[in-house]
Amino acid sequence: MTIQERIDAAYTFIRSRTDFQPEVGLILGSGLGDFADRLEDCIEIPFFQIPGFPVPTVEGHAGALILGTFQGCAVAALRGRIHYYEGYSQQEITLPVRVMARLGIRTLVLTNAAGGVNLDFSAGALMLIADHINFSGMNPLMGPNLEAFGPRFPDMSDIYTRSLREKLRPLAKEAGIDLREGVYMMYSGPSYESPAEIRAFRTLGADAVGMSTVPEAIVARHCGLQVVGVSCITNMAAGVLDRKLDHSEVVETAQRVKGNFTRLLEIILTIA
Ligand code: HPA
Repeated sequence: MTIQERIDAAYTFIRSRTDFQPEVGLILGSGLGDFADRLEDCIEIPFFQIPGFPVPTVEGHAGALILGTFQGCAVAALRGRIHYYEGYSQQEITLPVRVMARLGIRTLVLTNAAGGVNLDFSAGALMLIADHINFSGMNPLMGPNLEAFGPRFPDMSDIYTRSLREKLRPLAKEAGIDLREGVYMMYSGPSYESPAEIRAFRTLGADAVGMSTVPEAIVARHCGLQVVGVSCITNMAAGVLDRKLDHSEVVETAQRVKGNFTRLLEIILTIA
């Protein structure tokens, strides 16, 4: 099946289950999936049941599409994202974004766990993504252009919608959330970066580094969606502190900042 046929098959299947009309799409990153439990009147569809959908292979990324409302906002949430390092193509890992666009979302909220590259950050910080650097070595729009979604050469000068970031900053401050802002750089993974790579990334302008988000953001912009991105800085990146990196630290920090992260998502859903 082509990517377009897989999108059509997934869309048709979901529509055979529900006529729910989501306004906002939400992709929950590593250790950040609990927010989906806050949605009301939910329909939950495991990824493996949806024809054409890729299925996550990573522990702690049990995949499901959850359709529900949060304080009147209709949300389509992906709990458990598919990563490029799992061996899927970037066209495949971004397929759920296009399906959510077909379902009717206007805004996509992307969240992730990331390593802090900016030396002013510390583990537990939340960073609003102002822009990104695609260092994955690939672009999800390569191959035949899906004309039904957008143009061959889409503009990327305002990927993370400026007007939403401007609305969000004062609201986060009012809520007592220390929200940093910076550039997210995608590295393919699955190995963590080397200290020399992190020094290079800092020179290139990165504030945080992670293994996701960039392909989804590019595809979302191709579809004409507004995008909001939030990184949870779960650890300082390789070589910043004199210790090894470990996935359990990522999950533990995400758990520790869950309260602030959830409050920030609640605010984002009021403006999205
Ligand atoms: N590097 C890449 N991805 C990550 C990191 C990191 O340090 N922490 C969480 N995801």
